[in-house]
Amino acid sequence: MLLKIFTSIGFILLTLINHAIAGDPYALPNTTYTTTPSYFDNIQVKFYVFYIYNATPAPAISRVNPIYVFLKDTNDNMANTLQPNIIDLIPGDDGYSDLKRVNVVTGLTNSSGTITSYDSLKNLSNNVKITETDIYVNIPVVGLSAKLENPADGPEMFGYYKGVQFHCFNFGINPAGNATAPIYHVYSSNGTLLATLPSTIPGLSNYTGIWTIYDSTSNVTFPITSFNQVSNLENTYDGTVVNCPISLTSITSTSGPIKKRSRK
Ligand SMILES: *[C@@H]1O[C@H](CO)[C@@H](O)[C@H](O)[C@H]1NC(C)=O
Ligand SMILES: *[C@@H]1O[C@H](CO)[C@@H](O)[C@H](O)[C@H]1NC(C)=O
Ligand SMILES: *[C@@H]1O[C@H](CO)[C@@H](O)[C@H](O)[C@H]1NC(C)=O
Ligand SMILES: *[C@@H]1O[C@H](CO)[C@@H](O)[C@H](O)[C@H]1NC(C)=O
Ligand SMILES: *[C@@H]1O[C@H](CO)[C@@H](O)[C@H](O)[C@H]1NC(C)=O
Ligand SMILES: *[C@@H]1O[C@H](CO)[C@@H](O)[C@H](O)[C@H]1NC(C)=O
Ligand SMILES: *[C@@H]1O[C@H](CO)[C@@H](O)[C@H](O)[C@H]1NC(C)=O
Repeated sequence: MLLKIFTSIGFILLTLINHAIAGDPYALPNTTYTTTPSYFDNIQVKFYVFYIYNATPAPAISRVNPIYVFLKDTNDNMANTLQPNIIDLIPGDDGYSDLKRVNVVTGLTNSSGTITSYDSLKNLSNNVKITETDIYVNIPVVGLSAKLENPADGPEMFGYYKGVQFHCFNFGINPAGNATAPIYHVYSSNGTLLATLPSTIPGLSNYTGIWTIYDSTSNVTFPITSFNQVSNLENTYDGTVVNCPISLTSITSTSGPIKKRSRK
């Protein structure tokens, strides 16, 4: 009985603390995100590093958060939003993920006013319809003045979170939906990172920005530019999932499967 009371007091305290420390978009760092080179099949591609979380064993499916997009009709183009998008989690909140599942909200009227939080959206309950889609978008939430090395890689967007504005980069639809893919870190025996090898790149249907990291150790002295060079090594999952979208502006080759983002 006493244990029960303590657990519930502990729970209330934790809830209050979580509310107090999480959820300030103004506290997110105003980082300028730069790219790091890596190789896929001897092609150099550069990637950014955003949200990292721990998960064991290596998850095939990424953690996902909803993003609420307001449209006239569920089939409307997402560019025709009636008002800024809404999210209910930012970095620092439990369970946050850069990968978001598009939820389309229809039935908004002029008298609804601008919705600025998930709570006020919930309050509209019967007057709006929320449709969960199978579209997953890579949208890291960042500091209000954060920048990208190549701004064209992820156009800036603003939306609402618990009544305040948040800032994010829109890396677009994740072709592989909510799937993760392995990325390989090859170290020398003295611990120097020799190469980072993603297992897919933009332009392929299995491309995802969300990776499970595998580590291996190699004694080679020549540059490692393809997974084939190190496929005999033992790879160990290191317990982390990371959002590393590959910079489209870093992909210069137009041959083979790699193309710039196609227009639809
Ligand atoms: C980031 O920049 C905004 C101004 O755009 C500022 O209000 C905010 O305090 C800055 N965040 C940090 C953590 O410095
Ligand atoms: C909202 O108001 C505009 C004009 O101000 C009107 O064209 C539109 O039909 C109205 N929308 C709804 C859903 O009532
Ligand atoms: C939602 O509705 C409840 C009950 O009417 C109210 O207490 C609360 O303030 C509302 N929240 C928002 C964000 O409108
Ligand atoms: C992952 O995507 C599939 C296909 O859209 C869906 O059925 C499943 O519920 C999703 N899981 C999560 C955690 O989003
Ligand atoms: C993605 O597809 C490419 C081309 O078919 C293949 O080489 C690569 O191994 C695949 N990656 C994953 C993670 O399935
Ligand atoms: C570690 O190994 C790498 C690759 O073999 C080598 O280039 C580097 O000089 C070494 N560093 C140290 C501190 O020994
Ligand atoms: C490098 O490692 C391989 C086994 O992975 C071994 O056969 C080879 O002798 C090693 N080479 C050197 C220079 O240590």
